[in-house]
Amino acid sequence: MKKPLRKAVLPVAGLGTRFLPATKAMAKEMLPVVDKPLIQYAIEEARAAGIEQFCMVTGRGKTALVEHFDIAFELEATLRQRNRLEAMEALKGTIVEPGSMVTVRQQVPMGLGHAIWCARAFIGDDPFAILLPDDLVLSRTPCLKQLADAYNETGGNVVAVVEVPREHTNRYGILKTGADDGRLVEVQGLVEKPAPADAPSNLSIIGRYVLMPEVIGHLAKMERGAGNEVQLTDGMAKLIGNQPFHGLRYEGTRFDCGDKVGFLEAQIAFALARPDLAAAVRAFLPKYS
Ligand code: G1P
Repeated sequence: MKKPLRKAVLPVAGLGTRFLPATKAMAKEMLPVVDKPLIQYAIEEARAAGIEQFCMVTGRGKTALVEHFDIAFELEATLRQRNRLEAMEALKGTIVEPGSMVTVRQQVPMGLGHAIWCARAFIGDDPFAILLPDDLVLSRTPCLKQLADAYNETGGNVVAVVEVPREHTNRYGILKTGADDGRLVEVQGLVEKPAPADAPSNLSIIGRYVLMPEVIGHLAKMERGAGNEVQLTDGMAKLIGNQPFHGLRYEGTRFDCGDKVGFLEAQIAFALARPDLAAAVRAFLPKYS
């Protein structure tokens, strides 16, 4: 009997050094794509997948992330008084159920695996999703919903995967693949950021996961991996053979918003997907090509 997927962990403790100076006094997850911060895309995507409880793994200087999902009483009162209905509508996605969002702190930057371990009390004995807000996916069905559906089919662990150029395997967690029906692929092994020559495939993990709580026991050993960090990929690899583990080739386009070029491309793609902006953006784009 599969337990329903209701929890999501969002690691947001990173320093965002690649976006300095913008991120000097502001969390990188507050950077907007068009008019919405990255963190809100992640929360909305999680909600669309049936997630009801959220845990942000934060660090120092990240309080804006918590504020963003609180009621801004004065702002709302002013908007109501001025009858600014559109602006009030824009705030809707920022409101979460009372008590449904918690934060824990990752006091030391020991890696993604360590960040997830920091959420262990929240996770308890339940399956949980992970969303890395830097990875933004433009798709017909929200990416995490696709993973949740796959989890309901297969049970066990499911990660979102995409083929990358061979020379990029050293940027991602990479799969050693087993049976493959073109959509779901059986995971036989996982390696974090292998050199192209050592990579078992060019199928990479993107920042969307559905994992079983047993991964926490493996992360708790705090074994250091690539970059001398506690790697989530290494913890997940220990589950293989004991539980189902699949990669899902999701439908959609992924943008790496942790990278300047990926972030700029996301702005254009998401603007073009907006009925209120597409025509105006299309009109100015040729000027720059
Ligand atoms: C992390 C994971 C990696 C995964 C990637 C997806 O790496 O460690 O396995 O492929 O996210 O974006 P990071 O981007 O934090 O270096």
